[in-house]
Amino acid sequence: MVPLKRLFTSTLGRKYLMGATGFALVLFIVLHLLGNLTLYSHNGDAINAYAAKLDMLGVGKIILEIGLVITILIHIVTAIQVTFTSKNARPIPYESLKSKGGPTKSTLGSRNMIITGLVLMVFLIVHIVQFRFGPEIEDGYTATVNGVMVHDLYRVVAETFMQLKWVVFYVGCMCFLGVHFRHGFWSMFQSLGMINPRWSKPIYALGFILAVLLSVGFLFIPIYIYATQGGAA
Ligand code: HEM
Repeated sequence: MVPLKRLFTSTLGRKYLMGATGFALVLFIVLHLLGNLTLYSHNGDAINAYAAKLDMLGVGKIILEIGLVITILIHIVTAIQVTFTSKNARPIPYESLKSKGGPTKSTLGSRNMIITGLVLMVFLIVHIVQFRFGPEIEDGYTATVNGVMVHDLYRVVAETFMQLKWVVFYVGCMCFLGVHFRHGFWSMFQSLGMINPRWSKPIYALGFILAVLLSVGFLFIPIYIYATQGGAA
């Protein structure tokens, strides 16, 4: 175990932090996709009812959101620190290393984690401004679910995805999510010291399957809404 202070100052500690926050983000992304699957239903009632249930958590929801923001920030900061520390310590860049035939995890995705991660950071800022801080009940975005007036979150999402530019942006970003997730999943086990040679291949395969399921699950949402709600250019 790494003592608390060294968690933030040593390379090993930062790797733990990166792995642990990565794990929390994997859980969040899976749950987020499951919640977003309600967007595939015929009208907005399902997502609006789901969002209204989350709103009923009140202060609990705000605490979870603050926890999520802190988790994302720790993940980004430790990832940047670990990347630059290992780059400085490595005289020969990864790109010039050849595999000797054993299972190598140096792929295009692994070498570009920092780039795909930064793209996702920009995506997250745009995404949260658009949807979390988008038009509210006070702006007239209301719907009625089971006789109760709620926030019409579906309208916020649908109005976005009826514009081709946002469909393209989201589809592109979800491809980056897939690439980042694919390597990140495997790397998370490594950072947490949970890889042994026997499990390396199955974990890598599981990361690949999850990456495809998540990015495809997310990226068809804007395409589906654009196609079914009569989107325009
Ligand atoms: C097509 C893909 C996606 C759709 C349609 C979507 C939809 C939404 C919606 C509707 C909200 C607002 C929730 C609310 O106000 O209660 C939201 C919030 C959020 N989304 Fe997404 N999302 C997508 C992809 C992603 C991805 C890939 C990530 C992470 C990499 C992500 C991270 C977040 C975060 C961090 C929030 C703020 C959570 C909160 O504060 O409640 N989303 N998303």
